[in-house]
Amino acid sequence: MYIRCSTLTNMANIILKTKVNDSTHVFVITEKFVNEFNLPDKVNDYFTTQFKQKDKKTLTYNYIGKYISILIVDPKKNKAELHEQLRKHGALVADGVNAQKGTEVYIYNQTRYPLLSLAAAEGVDLGNYQFITHKPTAKETNTLKSVIIANTSINPSLVNELNYVCEATKMARDLVNEPVNILNATGLANAFKKMGKEAGFKVEVFNKAKIAELNMGGILAVNAGSVDEPTFSIMEYKPSRATNKQPYVLVGKGVVYDTGGLSLKPTPNSMDLMKSDMAGAAAVGCAMYAIAKAKLKIHVVGLVPATDNRPGFNAFAPGDIITMMDGSTVEMLNSDAEGRMILADALHYAKRYKPALTIDIATLTGAAAAAIGSFGIVGMGNATDKQKNRISQSGLNVHERIAEFPFWEDYSELMKSDIADQKNIGGPYGGAVTAGKFLEKFTDYPYYHLDIAGPAFLTAKDSYRGKGGTGVGVRLFFDLIKNL
Ligand code: BES
Ligand code: MN
Ligand code: ZN
Repeated sequence: MYIRCSTLTNMANIILKTKVNDSTHVFVITEKFVNEFNLPDKVNDYFTTQFKQKDKKTLTYNYIGKYISILIVDPKKNKAELHEQLRKHGALVADGVNAQKGTEVYIYNQTRYPLLSLAAAEGVDLGNYQFITHKPTAKETNTLKSVIIANTSINPSLVNELNYVCEATKMARDLVNEPVNILNATGLANAFKKMGKEAGFKVEVFNKAKIAELNMGGILAVNAGSVDEPTFSIMEYKPSRATNKQPYVLVGKGVVYDTGGLSLKPTPNSMDLMKSDMAGAAAVGCAMYAIAKAKLKIHVVGLVPATDNRPGFNAFAPGDIITMMDGSTVEMLNSDAEGRMILADALHYAKRYKPALTIDIATLTGAAAAAIGSFGIVGMGNATDKQKNRISQSGLNVHERIAEFPFWEDYSELMKSDIADQKNIGGPYGGAVTAGKFLEKFTDYPYYHLDIAGPAFLTAKDSYRGKGGTGVGVRLFFDLIKNL
């Protein structure tokens, strides 16, 4: 689907006036509804009475088969909340227009704030997402194909950017929603190659032999029980006039399926969700795609270690001691704590870039999900206060809010092993933080860790985030890199 910016100034010529056609579905953003749509007095009177009711903020009306949805906004309200209100309403509009079998919807903004239309369009577009690759029956396919922003004063480049970000978010959802029998580690790396070609960034993929040559012990250990080969993808976007000398490095957990390994997960509500364990990887690759498409002037590197985690014949056994790429040793006491093993090697690899900041994003711990649910991201790290504030602000801007957890040294104590440098599990408490502290040991640069175990994959529809893969992280990273 595409978001377009229209130069139409007189909507009334198009909708509800003469012959009614598909392009008449409309989402009106207003402080006080004005009938610019040649609605009959009767209808307009109805709107007026309705909006006299206290707290009445939205009205949806079908006028001769055409869908009109009005949202009353208060532009003085907190900007992040206002934008989120518009996105959420956009998702309702997408459903409403699809119910009418509409193909287009206009966003008509009666406020003095044209940019509000962008958030509305984003909500419509993301809300319209479907994963029907494997179920392409006509009946279930959304009819809505374009969102038209009826406004002349918006810079078209902002609309382009919004399209890239929405497209990238939907691509990330697709990658997460594909099961492992369709998308394994090699498939994921190939998807990145394709994205790099299309958007203009370099993608290099290490195969198992190269991973072994580099002594990436963590990746090899997790891959040991698997028939499929692991991959290590290096994506680099380096525009000629980058404003940063040291790159920003994004690292994504690419466990294409997590059975738990020999520490096998139970199936319901656990292993059956684990095709989503590469959501961090999807976020990194797809954010790179949007960043390169939008030609942001920032040097960014994306790293994705990828493998499935299975209990096959040579699967690493709880108790094994693994030598990591950095030479340190890990006593692997639980094969289900695999994400940190592959991320550790990637974080070590990142040192060669002398990054200004490295952020990893991972569906890392059930503890993070247990702590805050799916409403936000658990964040922690040793990045500078300025960097942390910037990340947190982006979280608010795109409503992928970050709840910062402590990163106290005490938690590292819990990862100490008697017979190796670290264990791969901590105690019964603080599991999200002990995982983060484990990873920190493999860094020598400003570092921030995002645990998306909660918001990466939803088992029930939630507005424009939908059901299934959400694409969390893509919009966050784009906003962050854009506003550095
Ligand atoms: N991929 C899981 C974490 C997860 C859980 C993501 C639920 C999304 C939803 C991760 O690999 C895992 O299994 N973590 C273990 C770590 C433990 C063994 C220390 C966990 O959280 O139980
Ligand atoms: Mn696991
Ligand atoms: Zn996992």
